Amino acid sequence: MQAVIVYESVYGNTRTIAEAIAEGVRESRPDATVSCLPVAEAGPDVTRTADLLVIGGPTHVYGMTTGPSRRMARLAATMAEGDEQAAHASGPEVGPGLRTWFHSLPNTEPGTHAAAFDTRADMLMSGGAAHGIARRLAHHHYDLVADPEGFIVEGTEGPLRTGERERAVAWGAGLTRRPHPPSGTSYGPGPGGS
Ligand SMILES: Cc1cc2nc3c(=O)[nH]c(=O)nc-3n(C[C@H](O)[C@H](O)[C@H](O)COP(=O)(O)O)c2cc1C
Repeated sequence: MQAVIVYESVYGNTRTIAEAIAEGVRESRPDATVSCLPVAEAGPDVTRTADLLVIGGPTHVYGMTTGPSRRMARLAATMAEGDEQAAHASGPEVGPGLRTWFHSLPNTEPGTHAAAFDTRADMLMSGGAAHGIARRLAHHHYDLVADPEGFIVEGTEGPLRTGERERAVAWGAGLTRRPHPPSGTSYGPGPGGS
């Protein structure tokens, strides 16, 4: 079994969750080959071989990140590090986000398992990026094996809430056991939304 976990992360919290999910998959399926990669390194050659594809990113403005939201987050991070002049001089570098990445993801053969997750602050009425990710996976004919899941960060830059890393390990382990989404939520092919 090949499992591939792909993540987008500005401050590192989603990367930590992605690595914890990879740990959970390895624990539950010691025979599995598990890769955990940032979007920039996860081309079609990597995803094509996956029996289980797990995708996650940070929540920005109730959904998946956008170019402007990533630039805003990078700028805030650079300025928080006290390098305000450098941030304005060169413009903050932002890598590719999941929205763009999905454009180059080929459709899969029916039956390939997948799941979506995000990180988010615990804001009142806060939505999450995971639903948009799940919709896009379904649009590419992936078979969702779990409901989209959110993991909580304390504030914009983190850290992760206590216990969330452990919860991610358990969630990852569960992905290899659950044949169907527990709620039966349908993410049929559609325009994608946010
Ligand atoms: C521009 C921006 C918009 C955000 N919008 C939301 C939001 O709508 N809801 C929410 O729960 N968290 C929001 N957050 C907090 C992010 O979810 C948090 O920064 C992210 O989970 C951290 O993940 P990362 O360390 O992998 O970048 C926002 C953060 C930024 C920078």
